Amino acid sequence: MSEQDRVYIFDTTLRDGEQSPGASMTFQEKLLMARKLEELGVDCIEAGFPIASEGDFEAVSKIVREVKAPVVVGLARTNRADIEQAARALEGANRPRVHVFIATSPIHRKAKLNKDKAQVLEAIASAVTLAKSYVGDVEFSAEDATRTEWDFLKEAFECAIASGASVINVPDTVGYSVPEEYRSLIAYLKANVNGAGGVLFSTHCHDDLGLAVSNSLAGILGGARQVEGALLGIGERAGNASIEEVVMAVKMRGDVLPFFTGVNTCQIYPACKLLSQITGIPIPINKSIVGANAFAHEAGIHQDGVLKDVLTYEIMNPADVGIPGNALILGKHSGRHALKNKIEGMGFRLTDDELGRVFKRFKALADEKKQVFDEDIETLVTEELRRADQEGAEEAFVLKYLQVTSGSMSIPTATVTMAVRGEERREAGFGDGMVDATYKTIARMVGTGSELVRYQVNAITGGTDAQGVVSVTIKEGSSTATGKGAHTDIIMASALAYINALNRIERMKARKATSPLNP
Ligand code: KIV
Ligand code: ZN
Repeated sequence: MSEQDRVYIFDTTLRDGEQSPGASMTFQEKLLMARKLEELGVDCIEAGFPIASEGDFEAVSKIVREVKAPVVVGLARTNRADIEQAARALEGANRPRVHVFIATSPIHRKAKLNKDKAQVLEAIASAVTLAKSYVGDVEFSAEDATRTEWDFLKEAFECAIASGASVINVPDTVGYSVPEEYRSLIAYLKANVNGAGGVLFSTHCHDDLGLAVSNSLAGILGGARQVEGALLGIGERAGNASIEEVVMAVKMRGDVLPFFTGVNTCQIYPACKLLSQITGIPIPINKSIVGANAFAHEAGIHQDGVLKDVLTYEIMNPADVGIPGNALILGKHSGRHALKNKIEGMGFRLTDDELGRVFKRFKALADEKKQVFDEDIETLVTEELRRADQEGAEEAFVLKYLQVTSGSMSIPTATVTMAVRGEERREAGFGDGMVDATYKTIARMVGTGSELVRYQVNAITGGTDAQGVVSVTIKEGSSTATGKGAHTDIIMASALAYINALNRIERMKARKATSPLNP
């Protein structure tokens, strides 16, 4: 295949993905994720929206310094302040790109922008020209492109190209399009927009009708050569096109999709696991490509077929997406070398110090459990990576001690010691159960006004000695955060998850306080 058949992967996990309720990431978490995305081999990382807050600006400028191979992208509306802030955040980047957007559809022009067509074209011309004066690579997006009149969309893109845009993005912002329509739109633009031959056309599909991946693939067939999306399909509302699904469809179906990407597919599973660990949002068990059941065969007929020839029911090899096939289970007699091999087989690279700390926690866990499974080790490693990255970052709330009592004849009671904004406090409280007693006590101690939206507990592996992973989503005003905690004791896991979510809300509040988008 020639370079013309290459589909560039533009990852927006850190920007559009982070806009999903409960998926907000800290500065350090974004950095960790950006390094993983570079290992995954995506072509572009949309690192944030620098005008949105100090934190977004810092994250983009730090990612620029850390990540060298991919293009690093900063988002901006068509106004001067946004573009200048994006350009500042991208200073020193190996391959900077400013991504300018404005809505073009009739409903957005009227209800949101209060601009007529001529005013929108004026905004595009001046914004793209300004962005181009800072960086050589400018992407222009027509927000709500799929609900825009085709002839006006053509004009808008011609204006962007004439002003210096090198990438033309065609967002299905509200996830309204269907594959054949989207393919035709891209083909129409490629054939009719003056200057189309000199730019890269891009898809950006949302999943409101569950068609984001199908529409993205249809867009490639229509002539787009950049696909925007996020790992695990996270993003506004129902999310974005899932990068792992697009990449694997292209890889597996070369017969009908004769294209290729530069993604190292063996990093797909580690990257998705890391994202899930960071956001606290569990990967659904039936999630395509990376869900726990994606390669599990339950029906007898299927098991029989797979045993005779794996290709009867498996279209891909789990190893090709980085799912560890090595069933070696570690235990308390396993040494550091075996642990290191296992971790490297999972696609993680640790420093000697990090490995030393993981090994210490692994030994402690192996003392509590007979067997330590791959999922346990993944949790230890990703927690260590997050911990190492958060070193020095002050958490508002830290759990120091927890004791809970309950039983058929006693009232569930929790005694909690915590550091609350640096001050050590101890309190006890009652509840309807042990988790309720713990949460009520913690809530009183930190003085939170948040409500619990979702509480979910899963065992990482089988067995009554399995580690429990608790995922908790809380909401305070317009901020939603998801926290995660893992422990062999599920009450401890519950407390850790809740405190993790409370810390995230604190950071979001601080971030919002400095954001010009949220006055
Ligand atoms: O969905 C959308 O239209 C966007 C743009 C900013 C590209 O995210
Ligand atoms: Zn979007």
